Amino acid sequence: MKVLALYGSPRKDGNSAILARHFLTHAEKRGASVEEINLNCLQLRGCQACNLCKTKFETCVLKDDLTSVLAAIAEADLLLFTSPVYYGDVSAQLKMLIDRTFAFLRPGYIALEQPNRLPAPKPLVFILTQGHRDSKVFADILPRYSDLFGWTGFAKTYPLRAVDVYHQGDAAKRDDLLVQAQTLAEELIPNSSAG
Ligand SMILES: Cc1cc2nc3c(=O)[nH]c(=O)nc-3n(C[C@H](O)[C@H](O)[C@H](O)COP(=O)(O)O)c2cc1C
Repeated sequence: MKVLALYGSPRKDGNSAILARHFLTHAEKRGASVEEINLNCLQLRGCQACNLCKTKFETCVLKDDLTSVLAAIAEADLLLFTSPVYYGDVSAQLKMLIDRTFAFLRPGYIALEQPNRLPAPKPLVFILTQGHRDSKVFADILPRYSDLFGWTGFAKTYPLRAVDVYHQGDAAKRDDLLVQAQTLAEELIPNSSAG
């Protein structure tokens, strides 16, 4: 099973990356192959709304570092998106990627039973970290994106939401969050390494 993790934080060892790596460690133990991509290290642009992915081509025509990332998403069996909450939403780094997945949607997608071009629907683990300690605040973010991702071909979103993690490294001291990351890996990755 191929797991592709896309990191949306500029902090390489930030809270969202800590939880993602914990998930990946347990995914690898179960025999998955894992790849990590730090979006902050890439040269990328947001969607240009040229609509060429709906009129002339089946892929995004922009040629930048996201070109190969979009191809890798199509190939992966399970995706992991991570982001800090920035001003009540995902980071700009992750949002640019999300907008570029517009190229996965077929022309006339709104009326189609199979609205996307992905070879197979894939589960998405979405890790979101925030400094605010009240879980009611920013609770809208994950459900909003999850609803849209159904169209894109990310069959089901499995959220991992970390609240009250402000400083870099806070998530590493939170057993409740680390257990959630491990449990998700155990639920979603079939154990192919056993005997
Ligand atoms: C530009 C910026 C905007 C932020 N906006 C919010 C916010 O709206 N709500 C919040 O709870 N925390 C906010 N934070 C705090 C981060 O969400 C928090 O530190 C998070 O754990 C960072 O995750 P990371 O270590 O993976 O980057 C913000 C931090 C920065 C740098």
